[in-house]
Amino acid sequence: MATRDPSTLSNYGAWRTRHTTANLKLDFENKCLRGDVVLRLESQTDKESREVILDTRHLSISSITVDAAPSKWELKEHTEPLGAPLHVSIPEGAARGQFVDVTVNLETTPKCTAIQWLTPAQTSNKKHPYMFSQCQAINARSIFPCQDTPDVKSTFTFNLTSTLPVVASGVPVGDHNPTVGEEKLYKFEQKVPIPSYLFAVASGDIATAPIGPRSTVATGPNELQDCKWELERDMEKFMEIAEKLVFPYKWGEYNVLVLPPSFPYGGMENPIYTFATPTIISGDRQNVDVIAHELSHSWSGNLVSNASWEHFWLNEGWTMYLERRIQAAIHGDAEFDFSALIGWKSLQDSVELFGKDHEYTKLIISHDNVDPEDVYSTIAYEKGFHFLYYLERLVGRENFDKFIPHYFSTWAEKSLDSWEFKATFLDFFNGLGDEEIKAKVATIDWNDKFYTPGLPPKPDFDTSLADMCYALAEKWKDSSFTPSPEDVESFTGNQKLLFLETVQQAEPLSPERAQLLGETYDILSSKNVELKAAFYHIALKANDKATFQGVAELLGQVGRMKFVRPLFRGLNKVDRQLALDTFAKNKDFYHPICRGMVEKDLGV
Ligand code: BES
Ligand code: ZN
Repeated sequence: MATRDPSTLSNYGAWRTRHTTANLKLDFENKCLRGDVVLRLESQTDKESREVILDTRHLSISSITVDAAPSKWELKEHTEPLGAPLHVSIPEGAARGQFVDVTVNLETTPKCTAIQWLTPAQTSNKKHPYMFSQCQAINARSIFPCQDTPDVKSTFTFNLTSTLPVVASGVPVGDHNPTVGEEKLYKFEQKVPIPSYLFAVASGDIATAPIGPRSTVATGPNELQDCKWELERDMEKFMEIAEKLVFPYKWGEYNVLVLPPSFPYGGMENPIYTFATPTIISGDRQNVDVIAHELSHSWSGNLVSNASWEHFWLNEGWTMYLERRIQAAIHGDAEFDFSALIGWKSLQDSVELFGKDHEYTKLIISHDNVDPEDVYSTIAYEKGFHFLYYLERLVGRENFDKFIPHYFSTWAEKSLDSWEFKATFLDFFNGLGDEEIKAKVATIDWNDKFYTPGLPPKPDFDTSLADMCYALAEKWKDSSFTPSPEDVESFTGNQKLLFLETVQQAEPLSPERAQLLGETYDILSSKNVELKAAFYHIALKANDKATFQGVAELLGQVGRMKFVRPLFRGLNKVDRQLALDTFAKNKDFYHPICRGMVEKDLGV
């Protein structure tokens, strides 16, 4: 039976996972997870279903039972990018609505793409090992066999045994007093059904501190105070604003785990515990927008999910929209436009990188025979945002604000595709009984919006916050301009960023001018990696050899792909040998996903 998600090999049209129990031991010595996972599956077909097909990738499976009886099963051949389908026979068959429990005994392997295992030497206090997972988009299948599609949602029980404190994407139940060095069972329940990509686990020498009435930050003991300071001012504010925009937060707690520097993303919206890069702890609260973003996913993505990665804009476009509404509520409407403008620039960059006619620059992106990892870019985020922003302006903000809770309650705990979005939107606005609005929504060319590659029409932005960034960048075009630290004194972190990116886009500076810029504005001593990376792109373009070593050093300190991949690409252009040496040196520092992508980027 054909399904609407091309990124799974599972036969989820015939079965649906309703509950998943993961009984796993975290084995730091052998760097693997070991135990069993029980999938409670519901038959979907009138014709009796006699076979369950699950996704796996590089898993070692020792035995399988169906309703506690040993079963016949076969792990088929592994192919890229989707992995090896696991066929489990259901000898008795199951009629529609009937349940079976499939229990798989397994061990993860060194080829597991979801988990990074860090040695004590790779952690900040060097005392204990550390491990963490990253399942989005299709890495859950390398931890346990599953219907690895966002079109299927299951509740979860986590029974995780570890010698170090554990966090997971469920609510802690029972005794969670962290005991460092002593083996212990950590239990979590996720009672809201979630797709497999939101399965998450991390374990290490982790301490916690409150950052709001419903929120805790978890991180290494040495980093705890800094993390608490960075997040505690805004956490509850973000939650209250988001709740006003959509509806009350449904998940109980909202916590943040700040990971070691090799975490490959800025943030990952794992339910209950957002995972975040330590680069947001910049000592100036200038990168907390990442948390507003991940929190917004509690509605867009986690409660209402894209049915497949072809409709990823429904996750990320909506999340960018909510994130910017939160920012605007705190800092004013100009901030919405300023952030959208920065987003527009990154959209331009992505379109340029892929080419303006490329499939991956569409809102709906065909995923037949492709690895979602290769498709990943800011297109879904910013083209998705701009589509929603266009709809908002078309119907007016007041009307759109009524649609927001309607949309999220209609699709809560479900998954949808772009056409279902269209139907929900049209039903809502045609049902208001307002002829003027009806006429307006009739003008939307949905096919054009969904399938035209390249940039959408550019809206008029309020550029008040951006103008001073552009003005300063303009001055740098004149090589006799004498800069002073006061030039950027009043700038926020994001304004400095826009200034640096604008300089970077213009004609290259001379190596001396690039150095002067870095020194005058004191960029390299800042803890803000966004700024450092942006400056390094200027220096690379200026072919300022004196800073290449600094680039190589930064590449050994952060594993966030947003920085690592462009910096490697930039370094590779000017000094391929240094790029290759730097990668060889830091290979083990990077998460497997990041390692794989840089290998592709560098062609090694
Ligand atoms: N869900 C994404 C991260 C992700 C996407 C991981 C696809 C794997 C596959 C997360 O919400 C995200 O968008 N993170 C951004 C932060 C941001 C836009 C503020 C990031 O990592 O940079
Ligand atoms: Zn996101």
